[in-house]
Amino acid sequence: MNNIFADNILEGKVAFVTGGGTGITGGVARAFAEHGARLAITSRKEENLASMKKMIEDNGGECFAIAADVRDYAAVENAITETVSRYGQIDIVVNGAAGNFLCAADQLSANGFGTVVDIDTKGTFNVCRAAFEELKKSKGQILNISATLHYLATPMQIHVSAAKAGVDAITRNLSVEWGRHGIRVNGIAPGPIEDTEGMKRLLPEALKEKITKKIPVGRFGRIADIENAALFLTSDAASYINGVTLVVDGGQWLLGTSLG
Ligand code: HXC
Repeated sequence: MNNIFADNILEGKVAFVTGGGTGITGGVARAFAEHGARLAITSRKEENLASMKKMIEDNGGECFAIAADVRDYAAVENAITETVSRYGQIDIVVNGAAGNFLCAADQLSANGFGTVVDIDTKGTFNVCRAAFEELKKSKGQILNISATLHYLATPMQIHVSAAKAGVDAITRNLSVEWGRHGIRVNGIAPGPIEDTEGMKRLLPEALKEKITKKIPVGRFGRIADIENAALFLTSDAASYINGVTLVVDGGQWLLGTSLG
């Protein structure tokens, strides 16, 4: 699936990617760098960033890694400030930092629920808010990584479903409020994507074959599927797309079957 897009479609852009060290958003960060963007990646843990930074730099890209917990507004503001002092601008923000674990609602503590909402929903707002002035200057854009869990209902995922519903609301509201500043705000809702931390936590490997039968296109998603959707949405090809959360799930949620 390489070379679908021109190598330079993000040339001159600076992308700030949370959760950018690993998983889906790590892939998005790497793909953005391969297509010309200069990268800033953040994660709560510094050690999650080192290998992605090296991978991008070994490939000839530029990558600035800075630890920040998206729940901590001051830390987010600092990461944005440091990124701007290094690169002079921010054009694209990707909100990928997310928390997840399986837990039945009647077993979940208030703090467990709140922790995931704080990371996913409040974290997304914090980063958008802290980046606003820069995005206004660059007429930039935001890409929020969501999910399809809340379109119907997903047992053991009440906390993530609520959190991602909030993320989708942020996408729509900001697209309306900030569109007038030239800022586009969109999202991607990935379905089951193999080789990710989320999938490892949510789905035992033994169930993979059974689950594959529940996916209309007959396969799990790949991180590259999300990278390509992210490249499209952040490129000029999508310059009139605003307020959309693009589902990239092979049609899985339409069957209405829980994955387990
Ligand atoms: C029940 C749990 C729990 C679990 C944590 N908690 N893990 N409750 N079952 N497995 C509860 C704790 O008991 C505590 O509540 C509260 O949550 C906070 O826990 P901490 O460990 O103190 O929090 P923290 O260190 O901040 O870590 C939060 C975390 C995070 C959410 C557990 O470490 C995490 O999720 N990391 C995973 C990152 C990840 O996989 N990201 C990809 C997401 S994939 P009490 O009441 O005890 O204080 C994704 C895709 C979804 O989002 C779509 C898939 C199709």
